[in-house]
Amino acid sequence: MGTSSQSRFLCASTPLRALKLLERFTLPNLPAMARFGADIAFRLRPGDVVALTGDLGAGKTTLARAILAALGHEGEVPSPSFAILEPYPSPPLRLPVVHADFYRLTDPSELAELGLDEWREDGVLLAEWPEQAGGFADEPGCLGITLEIVGNGRAAIVQPGRDWLERGAWS
Ligand SMILES: Nc1ncnc2c1ncn2[C@@H]1O[C@H](COP(=O)(O)OP(=O)(O)OP(=O)(O)O)[C@@H](O)[C@H]1O
Ligand SMILES: [Mg+2]
Repeated sequence: MGTSSQSRFLCASTPLRALKLLERFTLPNLPAMARFGADIAFRLRPGDVVALTGDLGAGKTTLARAILAALGHEGEVPSPSFAILEPYPSPPLRLPVVHADFYRLTDPSELAELGLDEWREDGVLLAEWPEQAGGFADEPGCLGITLEIVGNGRAAIVQPGRDWLERGAWS
């Protein structure tokens, strides 16, 4: 505890400043991932997308689980790799969430069939393999996160959309 990398993780009580256009966070273990997820969850607003990019096993579902837990979800979070979309209503969550894994999507046109827009109304989309769905980086509420495997841990490269820049994030 108390390492320089961990000191970069923000709690609700930490003084706030805006995110930069590109930031790298070190996530050496699962507790660090849980704190990172909580930092994101604390700042989420309706309409946002958290676009989780990274190779197989990079930690996308782990981070989605951490965000859901911090929003008030208790219990299992199945990987939505088969169902593609997995909704989590509010209440009990602070905001409604749809957790998606677009890996199996063959064409973004399938999104309409899945009813993605309806699921996203007033809620937050946590998207694994967002590029398979055409990407969300053009949305101002998109928080792009690329996860990389670094030794036994992970690193996250964060690219905030315009709406995130003034949100008072990360210290
Ligand atoms: N920060 C971390 N430090 C160490 N291990 C981690 C970290 N984050 C995730 N892991 C581990 O990495 C493994 C794979 O994680 P996860 O299933 O979340 O990957 P994924 O990106 O969703 O993979 P897929 O593309 O197959 O869905 C899990 O065993 C998880 O515990
Ligand atoms: Mg996954």
